[in-house]
Amino acid sequence: SQNIILRDLARPRYFGAAMNTTFLFHDQAYTKLIQTQFSAFTPENEMKWEEIEPEPNQFVFGPADEIVKEAQTLYAKVRGHNFEWNNQLAPWVNTSLTAVELDRALQNHITTILNHYRGKLYAVDVVNELISDNTPNETFKQGIWDTKFGEDAIPKALTYARAADPHNTVKLYINEYGTEGIDSKSDALYNVVKGFLADGVPLDGIGFQCHFGLGQVPPTLQQNLRRFTDLGLDVAVTELDINIGTGNPQNATAFALQAQDYWTVVNACVNVERCVGVSVWGVSDDHSWLPNGAVLPWDKNKQPKPAFYAIADAF
Ligand code: XIL
Repeated sequence: SQNIILRDLARPRYFGAAMNTTFLFHDQAYTKLIQTQFSAFTPENEMKWEEIEPEPNQFVFGPADEIVKEAQTLYAKVRGHNFEWNNQLAPWVNTSLTAVELDRALQNHITTILNHYRGKLYAVDVVNELISDNTPNETFKQGIWDTKFGEDAIPKALTYARAADPHNTVKLYINEYGTEGIDSKSDALYNVVKGFLADGVPLDGIGFQCHFGLGQVPPTLQQNLRRFTDLGLDVAVTELDINIGTGNPQNATAFALQAQDYWTVVNACVNVERCVGVSVWGVSDDHSWLPNGAVLPWDKNKQPKPAFYAIADAF
C-alpha cells in the first residue's frame, strides 16, 4: 500500500477528505495520510456558521485558515462547507432575527467568507440539506430558512455567493443527502434545480453526500448523477462513508462488502464525465463522525482496509 497514492490514481478527478483541525498536526499518522493521499479537503466543522461567525459579524477564521493553508501547501483543492444549513448554526441566527435581519446576516456571512478566501476555494456548499425528507408532500426541509424565506431561501444564498464572486472562481454547490438514487427526494431536488436553472439562479454543481449503510448503495446512483450532469451541472460525491453498523460483526466479510460498496460509488463517479471527484467524510475509523461504524478506508490504526484497495481499483 506504500506505493498506492489515491490522489494520483484519481486524476483527472480529485480524491478528497473532510479535514479536522482537532487531529491535523496532533495525530501524526492521520496527518501523514492527509499529506499523501488526498487532493481536496473539506473542513469538517471549521467553516460552519457556529464556528466561523459565532456572534454577529465576529468572524473566527483561524481553524478554517489552518485547513486552507495546509491544502495550499499540498496543492489540494478546498471545498468550502457550508453557508445555509439548519444545523450547527450560531444561536443568534436561529432565534430572534426578523426576515430582513436574517437576510442581511446571510448576505454578510456569505460575502465576508468568500472575500476572506478569495482565490483559495475550488467550490463551496452554499446550501446544505435543505430538501425535505417528506417529499412529495413537502419540498423544503422545515427550519429557519424555510420559515423566514420560503422558496426564496436557496436562490437567495446562491445569488449572494455569486455576487461576492462575480468572476465565477468558486463553484457554487447544493449539497444533499438521501438523493443519491432515483426516488421521490432526488426527484424533488432535480425539479427544484431545473427550475433554478430556468430562472437563471447561479448554480454550478450538486453534491451527493453518500453516507451509506453496508449494502445500501442505490443501484440508480450512476444514472442519477448523469441526469444532473445532463442539466449542465457538475456533480461530486462529497461525504462518502459506508457504515458497517454497530450491531454487525466487523470482520473480513463485512470489510469485503464495504470495499465493494466503495468501489460501486467511485466507479459511478468515474463513469460520469462531469463527476469531478470523490471525498470521504474522514480518513480513519478512529476519527469518524459515526462512532463504531468502521466506516472509512483506513482502520483505527491508520492501516488501509479492503475499501482502500477498492477505491484504488475503481479510479
Ligand atoms: C458532521 C461532522 O462530521 C461532525 O463532526 C459534527 O459533529 C456534525 O456534523 N452531513 C454534513 C456534514 O453535511 O456537515 C456533517 O458533518 C455530516 C452529515
